[in-house]
Parts: sequence; C-alpha cells; structure tokens
Amino acid sequence: MTSEKLKKAREFVAKSLPYVEGELPAFHVTGGIGWINDPNGFAPYKGEYHLFFQYYPYDIKWGPMHWGHVKTKDFIKWERLPVALAPDREYDRDGCFSGGAIELPDGRHLLIYTGVKNTRRKDGRVESSQTQCIAVGDGFDYEKLGCNPVIGSDQLPEGGSQIDFRDPYIWKEDGKYWLIVGNRGKDTSGDILLYESEDAFSWKYVSILASCHNQFGKMWECPNFFSLDGQDVLLVSPMEMQAVGLEFHPGNANICLIGNYDREKHHLMREYVQAIDYGLDFYAPQTLETSDGRRVMIAWMQNWETSGSVSRTARFMGQMTIPRELRVKDGHLYQNPVRELENYRKTRIGYRNILVSGETSFAGISGRYIDMTVTVRQGNENALYKWFRVDVAKDGERYTSIRFKPETGCIRVDRTHSGFPHDIVSHREFPVRMIEGSIKIRIILDRYSMELFVNDGEQAFSVVLYTPLTAESISFAADGVALVDVEKYDIEI
Ligand code: FRU
Repeated sequence: MTSEKLKKAREFVAKSLPYVEGELPAFHVTGGIGWINDPNGFAPYKGEYHLFFQYYPYDIKWGPMHWGHVKTKDFIKWERLPVALAPDREYDRDGCFSGGAIELPDGRHLLIYTGVKNTRRKDGRVESSQTQCIAVGDGFDYEKLGCNPVIGSDQLPEGGSQIDFRDPYIWKEDGKYWLIVGNRGKDTSGDILLYESEDAFSWKYVSILASCHNQFGKMWECPNFFSLDGQDVLLVSPMEMQAVGLEFHPGNANICLIGNYDREKHHLMREYVQAIDYGLDFYAPQTLETSDGRRVMIAWMQNWETSGSVSRTARFMGQMTIPRELRVKDGHLYQNPVRELENYRKTRIGYRNILVSGETSFAGISGRYIDMTVTVRQGNENALYKWFRVDVAKDGERYTSIRFKPETGCIRVDRTHSGFPHDIVSHREFPVRMIEGSIKIRIILDRYSMELFVNDGEQAFSVVLYTPLTAESISFAADGVALVDVEKYDIEI
C-alpha cells in the first residue's frame, strides 16, 4: 500500500520535474528536483540495471531520507521511476538510509536498507537507532514487510554500536545470501560486519569481515565487496580520515582494500589499500556485475563538506559519477568510463604531435559535453617542459585547470576560478606516473562536472563544477616544449 508520505513525494517530483529537466546534467544521474546523496541498490533486475539513491526531493539540503529510483540499459541513458521508499514506518521514521538490492528467484525485487529512528533522551540528546529493513517489489512499487527490522541490535557482535550500524550491501554466492554492513566497533572505529541468510529475509551474524583499527578514518560507511581478476575487493567510505602525504585525504573519503577473502574464517586479509578516486567529489561507491561479466561502479559525485555550495537558485543538489568499469592488476584498482559512452561520441577532432610552448588553443577543441584524451610527451631535449596545463570550461574569467609536472610526478587540479559561490576546497594534487615518457589524461565533461582518468584508469579524479555553460573554451599551455596529441569527441545523448 502506498503511504501518504510516499504519495506526496511521488506527486511532488512529478509536478516539479518539467521545470528542471532543462537544467540537469546530460548523462549523469541526479534526483531531478531536490537533494541526492549515496547510490543505493545498484544491481541488475529483469534484464535492466536499477539504481536507487538517498533522496530528499523537497529541498537542496539533506532531509529525511527517501529512496529515489532510476533504471538503465546502458548506464548512459536513464529512465526516471517514481520514488521507491519514504520514511513512513515507526522503525524508519527518521530515514530510509543507504542499502542494496537483489532479484529473488521468484522474480521479486528485494531492497535492504537501514531504518533510522531517533529518540530524544531525558538529557535532551538525540539517540539514533539503526536497523536493517527490507521491502519487496516489482521494479516500480515496493512494500515494507511486517518482519522488519530483519537485523537489529540483538545481532551485533559484542561492543558493536546500534547508533552507527548502516548501509547493508547484499549479494548471492554458493546458493546463499550474504550481506555486509558498516558498524562502529569496540575501539570506536569501523568494522564491516558479515551476515548470511538462506532466503534473504532471516539473517544470522557471521563475522567481522574487515576492521579499520583507527587506521583509515573512523566509521566506515557504505561497504561494497566483490571478487575481480583473482582478488577480493572491499570498497568503503571512511569518515574522519586523515591524509597521508598526497595519498588519501581528510574528511569523508574513499578507499579500496584489495586482498584475499578467507572463506573459512570469513575475513578479508588485506594486502593493498588505495584511494579509489583522488577527486574532491566522490563518496559511497556501489558496484554491480553486468550480464557480460563486467564489474561496474557508480558513486555520489559530491563531498559532504562542500555539499551546501550551490547557488541559492539551484533546484537540484548532488549527482552520480559516470559508471566505471573496474579491473584489478598488480594489486591496483583501475577504472574507466563504461564502454557504452563510446556509442554517444559524435564529431571526432584529432591532433597529433603538436608542439606546445606557451599558451595555445586548437581549432575545434572546445565544449562542455565532451570525451577528450590528451597525451603529453617531452617535445624538445633542450627545452624540457617543466609543467603542462589544460584549462577547460573557460571564458574570460572562469576556468578549471589540470596541470602536470614531470619533476614531482603529480597532477594538480584547481577549480578555484570555476565560479563557485563559496570559498570551498578547490584544489588537490595526486601522484601519477609517466609511462615511457608520456602521460595520458582522459577528460569527461558534462554540464556541472569533470572526471579525469589517467593512463587508462590508473587514477581517477572527480569534481563538480558550477561554471556557466557559456564557458566552453579549452586551452593548452607548457613551460618549455611539450609534444601533444589530442582527440576529442562531443557527447550527444
Ligand atoms: C553516507 C551516509 C550513509 C547513510 C546515508 C544517509 O553518505 O551517511 O552512511 O546511510 O549517507 O543519507
């Protein structure tokens, strides 16, 4: 049965959408109207890929969480569906927080999410209780079941917190359902708890899959777990992380733990830890396996710290990254935009072996909906370039720059002059490598974002840009002489 709250949200969105459609990114998912954060329930269902998201349609600020809903066949074109969940039960009255989804053998679509209920204590403090709850449906309408919550505080290991117990991710393996969920453990940092079930409705605690031990941040939110290329990979979004040199960065950040899952002890033995994305706007990634066996990841392209930083007249806040294909090679996670993006490439413009010295631009290389790859090598032994720079989304006053210095081996991205209405964190530097003397940067621009993929996905970097769309020039500059190839396609959806 559709509750009043859900009905109200569905009607509000349907009524508002016609006014915002023209303002949205062309191929990045948003809520249309209002606020979104984490991707949820990113999974195949009946031959299509469904994506839900943390949603508050009524404002461009976070509010009591609903689940918004879209689906796609190719990860680039998305169909908007009615809001799937509203916080309309006693156990989730303060929010339907993040979670996962799976297709059941009988064809029903099961959503599992964190129900949040806040209670004001006598001393005035608000205490939150987080439990795991389910809803089942047909890809359109969902019903919360009477057995909720299906995992409560009685199924926490000793010392586990019921206040920070959220973001279940579900998958099926060896005929059983498995679920991991973030928890603040005994030492007040993050644990990822593992549960198992025969039917996806009744759950049993199994083990602590991985622990933070106060090393990579504190509470680990939004876990995601899968095997890829012979390794086991856990993605988490730590809160209160500290930067280590140029690796990682403070605040709400993202990491990937790569290692081996001990199936007897149900524990991940980690061997490698890396940032998933070095950008200013990337959090809470989820993945799925496509019908042709690819592991595809999507994340919230935003940062909690700067999420209020849009103009007062904006009508949507928050968007997703472009979905990315993942690979693991030599203990390192690689990511590249899904190959389906190539189906939307139009009008190729290419240049090869162009010497760049000082600042220049190339005829036909401009735009705000583009897929462009720039390859840079040294151009002259006697005038080695000290830095090379590409400026995008540029007009007389605004630009965002990507600068590479061979001496430090770092790329620095700076959006200080991109037109933000607030003084927010706008630049970051990250280490990359030159391969046989050359560096390759793929730049995806959609209105209001830029995503970089360095050296075929060795590093990725995502940022939102609220530069007016009329700023569409692109320039290239070098101190010294750089030898440059550029290939640019317009993206048309
Ligand atoms: C992460 C997060 C999740 C939670 C959700 C609430 O961004 O804090 O842990 O489920 O957002 O909207």
